[in-house]
Amino acid sequence: MPATRIIIDTDPGQDDAVAILLALASPEEIEVLGITAVAGNVPLPLTQRNARIICELAGRRDVPVLAGCEAPMSRPLVTAEHVHGRTGLDGPDLPEPTMPLDDRHAVDFIIDTLRHEDAGTVTLCPLGPLTNIATAFERAPDIVDRVARIVLMGGAYFEVGNITPAAEFNIYVDPQAADIVFRSGIDIVVMPLDVTHKALVTQARNDAFRAIGTPVGVAVAQMTEFFERYDKEKYGSEGAPLHDPCVTAWLIRPDLFTGRRVNVTVETESELTMGMTVADWWGVTDRAPNALFIGDIDADGFFALLTERLARL
Ligand code: RIB
Ligand code: CA
Repeated sequence: MPATRIIIDTDPGQDDAVAILLALASPEEIEVLGITAVAGNVPLPLTQRNARIICELAGRRDVPVLAGCEAPMSRPLVTAEHVHGRTGLDGPDLPEPTMPLDDRHAVDFIIDTLRHEDAGTVTLCPLGPLTNIATAFERAPDIVDRVARIVLMGGAYFEVGNITPAAEFNIYVDPQAADIVFRSGIDIVVMPLDVTHKALVTQARNDAFRAIGTPVGVAVAQMTEFFERYDKEKYGSEGAPLHDPCVTAWLIRPDLFTGRRVNVTVETESELTMGMTVADWWGVTDRAPNALFIGDIDADGFFALLTERLARL
C-alpha cells in the first residue's frame, strides 16, 4: 500500500505538534509533502515558528514549512493562548528553529502542489482554522476536484462547542472558510470534539510518553501536561484531549475510529451560533451527506499506536 501523500495545514498548538510528530514517525503510511501554517491557536509568526521547531525536534529539516494566512477570510482573528500558552507550544523548553521558513506563501504551495501532482493523489489534513484551504479553493477553483480527500479536526455535535456554547475553535475562528470547505464536494473525514474528547491523556498515558525517554517522548509529555490544565479545569476531564493526532492516526489506522456519513452544515449568519457544525446525525433533513463524521475511538489502541510511533523518532 503506497503512503498517503499529505499536506498538513496547522496552527501549532501542542496537539498539532503531536499530530505532526505522528505523521513524521510513520513514513510507511504517510508522506508529508509540506506543512502550511495558519493563524489560529496563536498568531501566524508563532504557528510557523512552532511548525519548524517540531520538524527539527523530529529531525526533519527537509520538510517544507510555509506561512499562510494571518487572519480569517472575513472575521477578526481569535486565538487560544488561554489553552496553549503565550507561544502556543508552552510546556517543553525547545530551541528556536534554525531551519528556514520556505519563502513561498502557503496558499500558493497548496495550489501549486495540487496542480503539479496527479489528480487524486494529495490529501489535505487541516488541524486549525480552514483559512488557507478555503483561500486556495477560492483563488484556484480548478484544484478542488484534484484533492483526494480532506481529513480535518474541527466541529462538534453531541459534544457542543469549546470556544462558544455552540462552536468548536477551528470552525469558529473562520466559519466562512469552513463553509467553503464543507460545500466543496470533496470527500471529508471530520474529527470533531465528539471523538477527540475521548482521546484523553491520562496520567498513565502521559507516563508512557515520558518513559520513551527520548527528547521527543519527554517533550510530548511536557506539552500534554501543559495544555491539559484548561480541559481538566473546564470539563473535569482526566487529561488533555489529543484533538489533532486523531487526524494523522486515522490515516494510519482508520479501524480505530467509527463514524457515520452525514450532512454537516456550518452556521455563518447568527452570532449566537456562529461556526456551529450542524451535523444531521439522525438524517432528519434532505441535505445530502457530505462528510464522514467520527464519533468514537478505540482510545487504548490510539495511545498504543501513538506511543509506539513517537518512540521511533
Ligand atoms: O478545538 C480544538 C482545535 O483547536 C485543535 O485543533 C487545537 O489545536 C485548536 O486548533
Ligand atoms: Ca490545531
